[in-house]
Amino acid sequence: MLNAHFESAIQSNTDTWLITGVAGFIGSNLLEALLGLNQKVIGLDNFATGHQSNLDAVRKAVTPEQWERFRFSEGDICNAETCKMLVSQNVDYVLHQAALGSVPRSIHDPIATNLNNVSGFLNMLVASRDAKVKSFVYAASSSTYGDHPGLPKVEDQIGKPLSPYAVTKYVNELYADVFSTTYGFRSIGLRYFNVFGPRQDPNGPYAAVIPKWIEQIQNRQTVQIHGDGQTSRDFCYVENAIQANLLAAKASQEAKGQIYNVAVGHQTSLNELFEALSELMGNPQAECVHGEFRKGDVRHSLANIDKARRMLGYHPEVECREGLRRTVEYYLAKF
Ligand SMILES: NC(=O)c1ccc[n+]([C@@H]2O[C@H](COP(=O)([O-])OP(=O)(O)OC[C@H]3O[C@@H](n4cnc5c(N)ncnc54)[C@H](O)[C@@H]3O)[C@@H](O)[C@H]2O)c1
Repeated sequence: MLNAHFESAIQSNTDTWLITGVAGFIGSNLLEALLGLNQKVIGLDNFATGHQSNLDAVRKAVTPEQWERFRFSEGDICNAETCKMLVSQNVDYVLHQAALGSVPRSIHDPIATNLNNVSGFLNMLVASRDAKVKSFVYAASSSTYGDHPGLPKVEDQIGKPLSPYAVTKYVNELYADVFSTTYGFRSIGLRYFNVFGPRQDPNGPYAAVIPKWIEQIQNRQTVQIHGDGQTSRDFCYVENAIQANLLAAKASQEAKGQIYNVAVGHQTSLNELFEALSELMGNPQAECVHGEFRKGDVRHSLANIDKARRMLGYHPEVECREGLRRTVEYYLAKF
């Protein structure tokens, strides 16, 4: 995942990391990686969409000594005191993942999305600035590209947001930028492009496409594809996103105060995704139907990842197809 030199540089110190959203999909994968590198981790989650089972899975994946270095706090980023109290515990690096994800959820309930994603974000930003942490890295989103037609997406060319979720993620970037110019607090925003992998929740009305389809194909249900299936995404295996977070946390001052695309740089249509999953699951006869396009969805998404390569040394090691293979293997072992 990381080159050996960088891994040993992290391992040479036992730093303290705060992961918000630690019981979620990306947060729990970050936790597993950091404990595996013998780091101390403080985790915060309110279980809005995360699960205790994700933390239990990490516990099984690491050694008892590594697990001892983890402290979990059940709480809410919407509570400024909670954020302040946690960050002030000698935290070196903050990896802020907590948010309410999903475009449809934000269309259904923009107030909840705004509260968690904007007010909660600001609480974490202020607490991290005041505690003078070494780095504040946060989960931004490719949804910020909105209606900009350009492909591949380059960080400084964005369009109008297409959903309340996209607004909140863009507001995060605006606040981060203002904190850089006003207070000299230079954070890093990682614009994730459809991250997928083990522990992504397949359940509920707002489930992400890959775990949802895997479950439906496994249960011999007909998969519903929104639109004509030509909609495309730059699907990014979670291990690549973990690499980007650790590199960003350790980035030079010059690389901070910036936004970076985190993806692979490979475009896959929904039709291609469906075919790949059916085949990997040994069910090439799986059935799908095409329905309405979904409101708020960007039509095509593909990242230019040159900036992250150049400034952070990011090098995605797991291609989309290999990531899908590993993900299918994980879910099949669980069924
Ligand atoms: N997965 C993707 O493809 C993707 C793409 C772009 C951006 N992101 C962003 O990455 C981050 C992580 O996403 P994920 O896919 O792991 O989602 P997730 O839902 O699995 O994880 C989010 C975690 O945050 C927690 N949380 C939510 N609100 C909270 C609050 N107020 N206080 C404390 N904890 C709270 C949830 O309980 C959950 O454990 C989010 O900020 C999301 O918007 C994800």
